[in-house]
Amino acid sequence: QPDVLQDRFGRRIDYLRISVTDRCDMRCSYCMPQGFSDYEEPQDWLTYAEIERVVAAFARLGTSRFRITGGEPLLRRNLSSLVGRLATVPGAQDISLSTNATQLAKQAAVLKSAGISRLNVSLDSLCAERVFDITRRDALAQVLDGLIEAKRCGFAPIKINMVVMAGVNEDEIDDMAEFCAQHGFVLRLIETMPMGETGRSAGFVDLQPIRQRLQDRFGLVDGIISGGGPARYLVSPDGSFSVGFITPLSQHFCETCNRVRLSVDGTLYLCLGQEHQFPLRPLLRVGISDAELDAAIRSAIELKPQRHEFREQPGKIIRVMSKTGG
Ligand code: GTP
Ligand code: 5AD
Ligand code: SF4
Repeated sequence: QPDVLQDRFGRRIDYLRISVTDRCDMRCSYCMPQGFSDYEEPQDWLTYAEIERVVAAFARLGTSRFRITGGEPLLRRNLSSLVGRLATVPGAQDISLSTNATQLAKQAAVLKSAGISRLNVSLDSLCAERVFDITRRDALAQVLDGLIEAKRCGFAPIKINMVVMAGVNEDEIDDMAEFCAQHGFVLRLIETMPMGETGRSAGFVDLQPIRQRLQDRFGLVDGIISGGGPARYLVSPDGSFSVGFITPLSQHFCETCNRVRLSVDGTLYLCLGQEHQFPLRPLLRVGISDAELDAAIRSAIELKPQRHEFREQPGKIIRVMSKTGG
């Protein structure tokens, strides 16, 4: 197809991450500053109709994968109605969700029937005190209930995102692997990215030696898991357990980047680790045509930078992670 979305570096863009709120019921050290949020939804948040319109435009331009993120997406009112709308957009084949799972026990069934095809859940520790230290909420039991319910509803595979932090949870990797193997979850180990200032630090751990150790210890081999994200996977020889590595710092994956992000205020962020952006909301609200919207998205993609500079400029403050949802 000559008219699919491609950036200046020849990368095909076919994955849109959509943040539906910047609010969260947790305060993870690597993601979000302390503080409260309002109950009311601000005027500058895209409505579900506006989000659907952007998704339809991306789908026309060849994007087939859409991931719903936050903040915590399940805090946005009636999220399943958005999922249901997106599932009917022609070309939107894969609608996935990244969540902290606190609301999942209540919502898993309705999300599944609305059309969520894949589920990623953040969980950094299986120890209640550690979960409290990391998230500032006493939420482990609720998260585990959410996971069990999601599994019961038939989500498979469920991916568990574990941000590995020096002196915090790096000693729990084997326990997490065992927990995931037991439940049939895919474990994903993630290197902490230095994003905006949250007031707390989360020490970086290089995952390369850990990858080598796990590979040797469990006899793992290279494997493929459905997705489209940056994780590289190892699987056990019998295929019963998989672990993915997301290594933005020790081995970045920007050459194969396929994605951009839509924030809740309708800004397209062209790279997770850079501030390059394009405001879509004003265009949506002056009633531009579909053709004009498509052209605007094409010109936004031209702004996508080559890569992040987390290593070269670790002290550079990027927006907080909760704004664009990882
Ligand atoms: P799949 O579609 O299942 O492959 O999802 P995913 O891994 O892309 O999404 P998820 O929301 O679970 O993100 C997992 C981790 O990958 C988070 O820490 C994200 O910040 C990180 N991540 C996702 N996409 C990018 C990216 O383009 N660049 C960087 N540097 N990190 C990313
Ligand atoms: N570095 C790496 N991963 C992060 N996440 C949130 N903030 C960071 C960060 N600074 C992860 C969360 C969630 C995923 C969407 O992004 O663990 O699972
Ligand atoms: Fe793509 Fe930017 Fe992520 Fe690199 S850091 S993979 S260029 S979004």
